[in-house]
Amino acid sequence: CFVGIDLGTSACKTLAIDENGRVLARGSAEYQLSTPRPGWAEQSPDDWQAGCDRAMRQLVAALPPGAVVQAIGLSGQMHGLVALDKDDRAIRPAILWCDNRTEAQCATLTERVGGLEALVGLTGNRMLPGFTAGKLLWLREHEPETLDRMRRFLLPKDALRLDMTGVHATDVSDASGTGLFDVRARSWSRPMLDAVGLTPEQVPAAFESHEVTGRLRPVTAARWGLPPGVPVVAGGGDSVIQTTSMGVIDPGVVGVTIGTAGLVGASVASCPDNPGARLQVSCGNAPGRWHVMGVTLNGGGAFQWWRDAVAALPGETPDFDTLVALAEQVPCGAGGLLFLPYLMGERCPHVAPDARGAWIGLTRGHDIRHMTRAVMEGVLLNTRSILDVVAASGVAWESLRVSGGATASPAWLQMLADVTGQEVATVTAAAEGGAYGAALLAGVGAGRWSSLEEAVTLIATTSITTPRAAAAATYDRLHPIHAALFGSLGGAIA
Ligand code: XUL
Repeated sequence: CFVGIDLGTSACKTLAIDENGRVLARGSAEYQLSTPRPGWAEQSPDDWQAGCDRAMRQLVAALPPGAVVQAIGLSGQMHGLVALDKDDRAIRPAILWCDNRTEAQCATLTERVGGLEALVGLTGNRMLPGFTAGKLLWLREHEPETLDRMRRFLLPKDALRLDMTGVHATDVSDASGTGLFDVRARSWSRPMLDAVGLTPEQVPAAFESHEVTGRLRPVTAARWGLPPGVPVVAGGGDSVIQTTSMGVIDPGVVGVTIGTAGLVGASVASCPDNPGARLQVSCGNAPGRWHVMGVTLNGGGAFQWWRDAVAALPGETPDFDTLVALAEQVPCGAGGLLFLPYLMGERCPHVAPDARGAWIGLTRGHDIRHMTRAVMEGVLLNTRSILDVVAASGVAWESLRVSGGATASPAWLQMLADVTGQEVATVTAAAEGGAYGAALLAGVGAGRWSSLEEAVTLIATTSITTPRAAAAATYDRLHPIHAALFGSLGGAIA
């Protein structure tokens, strides 16, 4: 069988699939996100390691007798900075993708290489505060001693790879999100490394997603109950791999993922120019493919925030299902209450690291049911705005597939179909797309499938949700109102 490990922001998920792509076993372990200051987001690589160990042991215990792990693939939250010292130990907590402290450093870097157009020419992207490059410059300015001690940096999933194989490596899709990678050439950008003051020895080697980067070391294998020597393939950044794992590898299909973050992604056969750089462009998970996506920092994470906020009330903590059931008690449109989900600032549809969230339209007629429904609708109306940005970039599609934690809930799926006015399909392992895609890549690396294109033919449609006419009409009316609110409130509440 083939194993995928997905190092998410809220949990590490593992999945084993057989030679026909069927799920054989899974594991999962949560960990904490620390926000030492508003707009900051950090996690401890030790917590990741402990979570991965738990999730792998669960998976190994659940494997059917006789199953042999032939290869392992990695997927993970992108952009995070893991700074390693000369002994390969993390010097400080990792600074994550959803950390927005580096706006000034991003502006400096953009200027340093000659402005936005020159930057997009070098890397394919604008310098988003989530990206790794700005974090390196922030350390230079605020924690020079960390940078002095830093021998190398790694991306989050690649810190797990280091423990697994002893190798410093990444893959081209994850490297694309550092702001230091030439996405068109699929290699590190020397001018960008110079701009942050790094040498080529300080960055991990970048492999294509299916390539074998190393083999499982005896010490890690023993912790997990596996034999040593299992090949570990490069894998990919979660946002890219989640889209790939929905079979979004040919043009014509667009993938929506509602995880902690949210995204709309499409696959294209040549590197797009990305004018205005409103979208993120990265290398795809198959050689010769590129990936275009709009990423919101406020997907399911906004709903998770609301669950945590109400958990502060005395009494039983409501779980996600209880909250969804409450939201379903009130009609579409939440009685005129709208929610802007920008709790973490925003990247797409607006480049606005300082944006804030808001409920708009509160009356005494509203209660927790409307507020909950408005949070869900706010996340999805924002997703619809991202679909509009992707369409405006020239990407055309006929069908829409969805993955991420929210797909486990029929209510979220129905709301997505209603808000977008489109049929929404889920596919195999939709709620665990990162791990599933990583397992498919492991199968390609081990030679089970000749290419990712062949592997994704195994993906089966598991559900189709059709929009309801009356609800879709309500959201058609609300969407322009919701989209315009950012402009009227954005500056005032930033
Ligand atoms: C992608 C992004 C997020 C993270 C966390 O650009 O920032 O999707 O990868 O999942």
